[in-house]
Amino acid sequence: MPEAPWWKTAVVYQIYPRSFADSTADGVGDLEGIRQHLDHLEWLGVDAIWLSPFFTSPMADFGYDVADYCDVDPIFGTLADFDRLLADAHARGIRVLIDWVPNHSSDRHPWFVESRSSRDNPKRDWYIWRDGTPDQTPNNWSAAFGGKVWTWDEATSQWYLHLFLPEQPDLNWRNPEVVAAMHDTLRFWLDRGVDGFRMDVIHGIVKRADLADLPVDKHHAPDRFDEPAVHANLREIRALIDGYPGDRTSVGEVYILSTAKVAEYYGQGDELHMAFNFPPLYAPWDAAKWRTRIDRVVEELDPRDAWPTWVLSNHDNPRHRTRYGGSEARARAAAVLLLTLRGTPFLYAGEELGLEDAVIPKEREVDPAGRDICRAPIPWTAAADHGWGVEDPWLPWPPEPDVRNADVLRADEASILHLYRRILAARKGSPALQLGAWSPLPAPPTVLAYSRVLGDDRRIVLVNFGDAPVAVSVDVETVVEVASDGLGEGEGYAGTVAADSAVILR
Ligand code: NOJ
Repeated sequence: MPEAPWWKTAVVYQIYPRSFADSTADGVGDLEGIRQHLDHLEWLGVDAIWLSPFFTSPMADFGYDVADYCDVDPIFGTLADFDRLLADAHARGIRVLIDWVPNHSSDRHPWFVESRSSRDNPKRDWYIWRDGTPDQTPNNWSAAFGGKVWTWDEATSQWYLHLFLPEQPDLNWRNPEVVAAMHDTLRFWLDRGVDGFRMDVIHGIVKRADLADLPVDKHHAPDRFDEPAVHANLREIRALIDGYPGDRTSVGEVYILSTAKVAEYYGQGDELHMAFNFPPLYAPWDAAKWRTRIDRVVEELDPRDAWPTWVLSNHDNPRHRTRYGGSEARARAAAVLLLTLRGTPFLYAGEELGLEDAVIPKEREVDPAGRDICRAPIPWTAAADHGWGVEDPWLPWPPEPDVRNADVLRADEASILHLYRRILAARKGSPALQLGAWSPLPAPPTVLAYSRVLGDDRRIVLVNFGDAPVAVSVDVETVVEVASDGLGEGEGYAGTVAADSAVILR
């Protein structure tokens, strides 16, 4: 096995703390709840967890509005709980990434409270203020969750900018004091021992200087930000992180829907360690469409020696099982795909249980952007409280919690949960699956076929996106290592991939 930093061979598991596990029976998950379920993660075989924000927050965006970057919100516990979680995870060989939200703070952050207190407050310029009149926003940009990016401040008669909610004012990264203060927040957690950061909206931290109107104003269009200054900032952040021992890492949320642009955020190996690439997440269940998106990654990232990432689900999008039509067979085949491409895969808590999106009655909706469906609490047991201590937590349960819960699926070796575990074990046992070259193989149109090769360790992966079985000839002697439909593992390959299924051949 060649030398590689841990994050290149890792499988990362995203935890949305509100929805993962509850140790206090208040219906909202917490850090101690996560610690109590590390067994599940160790048994599953993940290498790292990424925790969505657990910092002090008024929760306008459920934690992505941070009021203190260096403390834990009481609903999630305390700093001591965090330290215990980190120590226990490390003792099990599980690394911990935390979410860093540098683009904006909460409007209740003391920095913004000061900033808005008067035009000549020393922190005024820590946020983005513009002159104008209350009837005319400074530009035509719209905000991510509706409305414009501007809110008029009555008291001081100026507008402030927020790419997201009015409760999430954007920090002014052109101000060196802001840069220094935000660097300190990274150091705070690095000193505590975290293994790295997922960086929220990292491509947006510096806005174009003229804040000009855009002809077509699309929230995710790069022409609002994507400034050279973002890259300059990323180089400083990279140097700061790399200054710590132990291969700390970063994965940036670069919400620009072009893989070529995403690739730029790796710099010359001196910006992000990894960046999310969302086009595959938005690909339908279709072999050709997936192939195009994979090719784009190979074309754009490989020449830069940039290490890819793969993700099917997260806390912002409908779960992939639901997106792909709800079939468990597809969810299983998708797991094989996600976990055998070249790069670091990110799992979203609950996908190993084959969870579908929850149905949220109107009166229970809480997220301003309609993302409650993928944030339903994880059912751990078959009991009425599903291991939460309350039968009715902050959001309704996902479908079929009586049978689709961690306990029941763990008792069934044929379950999707065991499939994920077998794929993760297969990766651990195969340098080719972890680090090997990826090459496409010829295959019928509904099938995506590829090899992963490192030295004499070789795997072939066949994913059938179609609704009919397909005969595929593989002209080498192969054994089925993992099959998404569970059949024939350890046997010679018979030459047929079932509909909506996938196999890893050794
Ligand atoms: C991206 C996060 O993933 C999302 O949940 C959040 O609402 C926005 N950034 C704003 O922080």
